[in-house]
Amino acid sequence: MDCKILKPTKFISKGATRICFEHPYCENLCVKVVVRSKDDGILFRELRTYNEIKYELKDYLVWHENEVVDTIWGKGVVCKLLKDDSGEYSKTLNYYKNKIDREIISQLYHFAYKLVEHNIFFYDFNLNNFTIQVSNGRKKLYYTDIKSFENYKPITFFRLEKLLTPLAKYLMLRRLYVLFRALEIDQ
Ligand SMILES: Nc1ncnc2c1ncn2[C@@H]1O[C@H](COP(=O)(O)OP(=O)(O)OP(=O)(O)O)[C@@H](O)[C@H]1O
Ligand SMILES: [Mg+2]
Repeated sequence: MDCKILKPTKFISKGATRICFEHPYCENLCVKVVVRSKDDGILFRELRTYNEIKYELKDYLVWHENEVVDTIWGKGVVCKLLKDDSGEYSKTLNYYKNKIDREIISQLYHFAYKLVEHNIFFYDFNLNNFTIQVSNGRKKLYYTDIKSFENYKPITFFRLEKLLTPLAKYLMLRRLYVLFRALEIDQ
């Protein structure tokens, strides 16, 4: 078998689109493998997104390797694996749903502020798309699923963004509102 094909075996978690494994050669990385090959394009798009927004949203993104990899389960992306002080895999915001404290709330507000400040539009604020790492006893919020990104730069030429940007912002704010309401946070 081609030695470039990764064989990850340590399961971390899964979503509707991908399965997240620990990287077979590096315990500080994970490999997120698409379940259906028809979704392979999502991975390339996600890496483009990452490169486009990694500076503006640096506080909330994990490092991504800049290429799609092959695994025995399908294609995947490699990114930093979040682990807690305990050594366990970090848990999602869903796990913290009923234990939301000021540390988490202030980061959620700041995250939302950064999106609006830089006109970065996401639409999927599912609680499982956020991961909270407990590091040195402090909780750090990360947005670990960036595939719902939209940008309107390609059509700037047609000046449509003047119309679409406020609409995109409005839709995103509504989704953020739903997220904050689900967590019983004041908007
Ligand atoms: N960098 C990471 N470190 C630790 N755990 C992670 C990391 N990225 C993802 N996970 C875990 O893997 C799960 C699935 O990841 P992700 O949301 O990217 O999958 P998906 O299938 O693309 O999601 P969706 O269901 O929204 O399509 C997350 O909910 C989280 O528990
Ligand atoms: Mg997800």
